[in-house]
Amino acid sequence: MEKKSFVLKGNIVYSGENKELCSIEGGYVVCENGICRGAFEKLPKQYETLPLTDYGDKIILPGMTDLHVHAPQYTFRALGMDLELLDWLNVHTFPEEAKYVDISYAKRAYGSFVSDLKHSLTTRACIFATLHREATVALMDLLEESGIVSYVGKVNMDRNGGENLCEADASAAAEDTKKWIEETAGKYERTNPILTPRFIPSCTDELMRELAKLQKTTGLRVQSHLSENPSEVAWVKELVPAAKNYADAYAVFDMFGDKDHPAVMAHCIYSEDEMDLLKEHGVYVAHCPESNLNLSSGIAPVRKFLEEGIAVGLGSDVAGGSSLSMAKALTLAVQVSKMYWRLIDEKSKPLTFAEAFYLATAGGGSYFGKVGTFLDGYEFDAVVAEDHIAKDVREYTPIQRTERMMYDESTMTICAKYAAGCACEL
Ligand code: GUN
Ligand code: FE
Repeated sequence: MEKKSFVLKGNIVYSGENKELCSIEGGYVVCENGICRGAFEKLPKQYETLPLTDYGDKIILPGMTDLHVHAPQYTFRALGMDLELLDWLNVHTFPEEAKYVDISYAKRAYGSFVSDLKHSLTTRACIFATLHREATVALMDLLEESGIVSYVGKVNMDRNGGENLCEADASAAAEDTKKWIEETAGKYERTNPILTPRFIPSCTDELMRELAKLQKTTGLRVQSHLSENPSEVAWVKELVPAAKNYADAYAVFDMFGDKDHPAVMAHCIYSEDEMDLLKEHGVYVAHCPESNLNLSSGIAPVRKFLEEGIAVGLGSDVAGGSSLSMAKALTLAVQVSKMYWRLIDEKSKPLTFAEAFYLATAGGGSYFGKVGTFLDGYEFDAVVAEDHIAKDVREYTPIQRTERMMYDESTMTICAKYAAGCACEL
């Protein structure tokens, strides 16, 4: 896709240098060869010749990053939400993921996932597929066509997935993963492979060692799950007795990434005692509040991560989360942080709306580089939204209109989307 130069006009809302919310009513945001040149009250002279789209009274926001989502689980989203994590995996998740051996089922299911993702607030995503290579490539083809920028993982699992969702053994799994990497190398501009050991309970020590070797030779990043649920944490302790904690169970196999190849770890609810490892390895925490509620997992200590300087973004974790909505992830991040403060630690200040907005945009976006706001030098990702709340009774600022759309999504229509400097066809 060609990275273009253009100007958008409308009510612009984004996070500033200090993560505060900024807005410009009837402002201009400039994209030059795919890179944002800033948001302006008055269009600077040098950009006056660029093509301009006037979005009138609509709101222009930075695109959002879904830092953790399972594409194959989209088919059963919002179903079976009365179980805890490990039962939910066995009863609902693994049987559904096993169906992706059928490429025709996979193509239909992934078609629906990508189509809905396209119409969401999301411009960047870190995505789990299933262990099936062919279906994973089909998903990557669809994502590339959508214009969304993503990391996609063929999942690795060689134990505890049941008969129909298990790689034959560690070396077969590594071989298949290598084939997948080779098969997709150089094929895409916007779609990147990422190593994806599902979580420690589904990967033997041998598989982790094989994947670590593959990581070294390919330089790929890693995504997985960490410290999500008490019974899962206890199980990991049994499975990897040599590890100090769950995070260390990745680190001992050299699969916890480093600052140049940061790993994304979803959840990190029980990670207070492993924050030093998260920090040392530059791990990104994908905070998935809706999933954490649905699967009775708990509340992640996000304020503590932020105070420690640990990178945090937000994830839908479909189908632990029931929808692809980053608006929901953002508002629930505020809500669960208030419960954390009330029920767990009164010294942990709740997140503000501005902070949650930052996490959904530039926080998670930074996993992809300079992404997620309208400051000069950032890659140009934007979403144009119309709100349908009556404005004839009182006035609302663009920031207030944004907050209301996030909390009550029924009032929001997404009208246009730009990812990495290109318009996505909606
Ligand atoms: N842990 C291992 N697999 C999964 C999954 O598919 N979803 C969630 N939420 N946690 C997991
Ligand atoms: Fe997950």
